[in-house]
Amino acid sequence: MNSLISVQCATKSYPMGSGRLEVLRGIDLEVKRGDAICIVGSSGAGKSTLLHILGTLDRPTLGKVIFKGVDLTRESDEKLAEFRNQSMGFVFQFHHLMSEFTAVENVMMPCRIAGQSLKESRIQAEKLLDQLGLAQRLNHYPSEMSGGEQQRVAIARALVRKPEVLFADEPTGNLDTANATRIQELFFDLKNVLNLTLVVVTHDQAFAQKFPRVLKMKDGLWEGKQL
Ligand SMILES: Nc1ncnc2c1ncn2[C@@H]1O[C@H](COP(=O)(O)OP(=O)(O)O)[C@@H](O)[C@H]1O
Ligand SMILES: [Mg+2]
Repeated sequence: MNSLISVQCATKSYPMGSGRLEVLRGIDLEVKRGDAICIVGSSGAGKSTLLHILGTLDRPTLGKVIFKGVDLTRESDEKLAEFRNQSMGFVFQFHHLMSEFTAVENVMMPCRIAGQSLKESRIQAEKLLDQLGLAQRLNHYPSEMSGGEQQRVAIARALVRKPEVLFADEPTGNLDTANATRIQELFFDLKNVLNLTLVVVTHDQAFAQKFPRVLKMKDGLWEGKQL
């Protein structure tokens, strides 16, 4: 079976005044193992909402999210949290590192949550940070690192549990051009080395062009699809 995640006819709406704001309008997406998918579209199109639903951070109002044949929309919040920790990595526009913890402590966190020992968590986190060129930054706090370094640490934290799929929402949106280019290259290097599946939302044209599959969203649907 080649399909990793599929979103089937997902809608998402929020109460607004006497009616509802329709953010997703019955959207479908099939993510195959090893895919590198880029989602583009103007602000408010529903890209982040779709990514959150794909990654089980949010639930659709209607529709299904199937991961390897299992309907995740039927699972409890606790089960989904455990599943995300094990199978999915997330990177956002802002690094969301915990400021009172060092780089290595931030990266160890998902391992500790999963019940791995302190020693094992530290070994894994240090190894990954080393692979990402941050061997000299292990004991630095987020405030002591550059924006590019902070985002690298956030990527390490997303990957430390060896997820099958990495989701990223505007991961270079807060970086200068030189750092953004390095982070873009890093995504593809990591994809190849770790055999990852990638789903990335970006506004960055240069980044989008590097993906074999670019999907454009408009008003909660793929552009071109009839309402
Ligand atoms: N929790 C929420 N409550 C109400 N409206 C929301 C909520 N989250 C998102 N929206 C609305 O959904 C639309 C799509 O948002 P989003 O998925 O963040 O778009 P994008 O990432 O493409 O910019 C926007 O109009 C936004 O205001
Ligand atoms: Mg967004």
